Amino acid sequence: MWAVLAAAGSGERLGGERPKAFVRLGAQPLLAESLARLDASQWIDAIVVAAPPAWEEPVVLLAEELGCGKVSACVTGGATRADSVRLGLAEVPPDAAVVVVHDAARPLLEDSVVERVVTALGEGWDGAVPGLPLADTVKRVEGDRVVETLPRDELRAVQTPQAFVADVLRAALTGSDWTDCAAAVEAAGGRVKVVEGDPRLIKVTDAADLDRVAALL
Ligand code: CTP
Ligand code: MG
Repeated sequence: MWAVLAAAGSGERLGGERPKAFVRLGAQPLLAESLARLDASQWIDAIVVAAPPAWEEPVVLLAEELGCGKVSACVTGGATRADSVRLGLAEVPPDAAVVVVHDAARPLLEDSVVERVVTALGEGWDGAVPGLPLADTVKRVEGDRVVETLPRDELRAVQTPQAFVADVLRAALTGSDWTDCAAAVEAAGGRVKVVEGDPRLIKVTDAADLDRVAALL
């Protein structure tokens, strides 16, 4: 079981001087938390990190400093998240059975979530994603006109880590750019299960998110 950790984003919306993966969260770069937790996961054997361009060496040094012995490769990320995942996936050996894709932007990773997505593959699913019910009512709009109110019971806010049968993900990711890997697998006809997500698995997008995550550390 391999993990691809997508950490190559620039963090425009966070607006720091460094890429988001190297913005401080407590005493460490943001990336440290997800990397150490993946490394400690009983479900993960090896990790590929997609690093921001020119930050490959700091990623390798951080992994060494944290004693993350499962980090097998560090690649330079691409222009989009999908590109970064593709480049990371290229370093996953052909005989890998499962690939778990996780965003470094979600630091508070619990192994129980990894367990839930990986276990779903054992049940015969092609992929599995953690999802949370929505608190807000969601409407589809055209410009500023509401055209539809979506049935909330049928909606989930989806997180990472997302687990896939390795060959299925490889085949699906050849197409265009998807916002998440599951969308690519769904579009290719794959069956994706939604499992229980984790409210603490917050995605750091802006400075307020960083504060919220720091408070939960
Ligand atoms: N990501 C990546 N390669 C990219 C873009 C994003 O590996 N070219 C990763 C980010 O590092 C992050 C995850 O995908 O862990 C989710 O992306 P997002 O939260 O949008 O991060 P950024 O793209 O860095 O932020 P922004 O969109 O504000 O620039
Ligand atoms: Mg982005």
